[in-house]
Amino acid sequence: MSGIRIGVRPAETVIPAFNIPYLPMMEPIVAALRETDSFGLIAVARLEWIKFGAQSSRAVFEEYQRVKDERFTRLHLDHVPVIDEDNVRVDFEADIREAIDLGFQSVMVDGSRLPLDENIQATRRIVAIAHARGISVEGELGAVLGHEAGPLPPYEDLFATGKGFTSPEEAKRFVVETEVDWLSVAVGSVHGPLMQHIQKVEAKLDLAHLQRIHEATRIPLVLHGGSGIKKEYILGATRRGIAKINIGTVLRKAYQNAIPISMAAAQQAVHDATVLVLTKELDLQGSRQLVHLDDSESSPT
Ligand code: 13P
Repeated sequence: MSGIRIGVRPAETVIPAFNIPYLPMMEPIVAALRETDSFGLIAVARLEWIKFGAQSSRAVFEEYQRVKDERFTRLHLDHVPVIDEDNVRVDFEADIREAIDLGFQSVMVDGSRLPLDENIQATRRIVAIAHARGISVEGELGAVLGHEAGPLPPYEDLFATGKGFTSPEEAKRFVVETEVDWLSVAVGSVHGPLMQHIQKVEAKLDLAHLQRIHEATRIPLVLHGGSGIKKEYILGATRRGIAKINIGTVLRKAYQNAIPISMAAAQQAVHDATVLVLTKELDLQGSRQLVHLDDSESSPT
């Protein structure tokens, strides 16, 4: 199968996926990847064209065609939920089919708000559609909170009780029955809040729990809510199966804080924040040499 296969990466190399809630963020992120000789995904989640300025999957695809540099980048469809953060059912299959038809190179279906059996069913359906087109699929099991309306439950309680963490046994069944390529897991991370003025909590990761999921699944795992997690947790996570890390809030805030000054300032801020993440937080400078993709033709349809 073609598509983005990151299972062949050397252990401990992580692929960052940078979210694009505003289209002008994309160009400076691509530039930062090129300058640091790093490989990364440009990603958009459904809520970023519904609630922010990404406009549509088509608009994101077109901007990607304009600014892409496929020595360093691929285009990924992030969260398309079956039930969204406002508890509304989504026509997830239509959104994902549209992205695949446009030429997105990898997709995510997020059935994590469903009971296990229904999540398996929805994910398996998308895997059948996407694999027939040579596209990899990311699924999610467990509750990575943060995007829902209302305040987050006290973080320390969430972490201490492990409430919502991905169960290793369920993950094993999920992976076998869905044949998903990448699995997003809940082990302590949270998504940054959608409201600009609310501060993101500094999340921790339960690395022992992650190790159990890793051993039970043996497929590339994905860490959502990547902004602001301490480096030692991230390095520990990449040694325990995390192959992709999603980064959103830190770049969105850089953009939103500087946009009152000017678009040029906002793009510069996104560029600088991306370079910082790549070089200081994730140690990915030069990582392009380590990532082997089997979609070298990069022809998704
Ligand atoms: P943060 O916004 O917390 O970095 O999370 C991004 C993410 O996980 C997108 O799927």
